Amino acid sequence: MTQGIKDKIVVVTGASSGLGEATARLLSAQGATVVLGAARGPSASAGEDLESRAGKALTLTTDVRLREQVKALVDSAVQTYGRIDVMINNAGLMPQAPLERLKVDEWDRMIDVNIKGVLYGIAAALPHMQRQKAGHFINVSSVAGHRVGPGFAVYAATKYAVRALSEGLRQEVKPYNIRTTVISPGAVATELPDSVTDPDASKRIRTFYEQVAVPADSFARAVAFAMSQPEDVDINEILYRPTRQEL
Ligand SMILES: NC(=O)c1ccc[n+]([C@@H]2O[C@H](COP(=O)([O-])OP(=O)(O)OC[C@H]3O[C@@H](n4cnc5c(N)ncnc54)[C@H](OP(=O)(O)O)[C@@H]3O)[C@@H](O)[C@H]2O)c1
Repeated sequence: MTQGIKDKIVVVTGASSGLGEATARLLSAQGATVVLGAARGPSASAGEDLESRAGKALTLTTDVRLREQVKALVDSAVQTYGRIDVMINNAGLMPQAPLERLKVDEWDRMIDVNIKGVLYGIAAALPHMQRQKAGHFINVSSVAGHRVGPGFAVYAATKYAVRALSEGLRQEVKPYNIRTTVISPGAVATELPDSVTDPDASKRIRTFYEQVAVPADSFARAVAFAMSQPEDVDINEILYRPTRQEL
């Protein structure tokens, strides 16, 4: 299944671990060139490994809260490889806690990374894709972008926002032949629960993930599916859960 993937230039944010890393590895194995934004820096991402094996990877230290770093990531892809085919706005965090705990710093961080980070990714890639008259945005929402529950109001708000932005973007980029996909995973085994600092929420989430979470390549395959469609087919939404996940 390398159609639509081989030789594509794909930029991924949040590539240090989890969904971003799994996607970089799968797409690279299928012949894509991956340009990885890693908040922890190049050595912590799949990039070095992929670079040394395939020579078709580039990694930049990228904090998606900093607009200039996201722009530098995308501009490097274009300068090095001549274009950007796919922008995967994946970086995110999920420090769940009831609102009454007033973890306002964590609210700010989720808004900065999960919403503004996606916007900065759009701002960085859109001008190139408009000029190319081709491109594909893949934004990462969540089951929490479809339903809210106690303890994850702010996280859900950020993931609803990603869906709203993606749908608005989809409608606006029609003249430029740009595709827009939003992927909403259920529980996937990654480092995401590590961002929960509230002890009660952390215990609940870890137990839940231990019981139901599926491997990160489930997400990578969803990305590959969206990318591998013919150019005139735009997969707009993918919502998936582990088969055992009830919520
Ligand atoms: N795992 C799930 O169950 C699940 C379900 C639905 C949606 N999602 C979404 O999937 C996306 C990826 O999460 P994951 O599950 O793969 O978790 P993860 O393993 O914790 O990966 C999250 C990635 O985002 C990066 N990140 C965090 N803050 C950043 C910043 N300021 N700038 C750049 N990168 C930053 C992290 O890098 P550092 O650690 O280096 O900061 C990490 O590489 C997130 O948007 C998450 O909300 C996950």
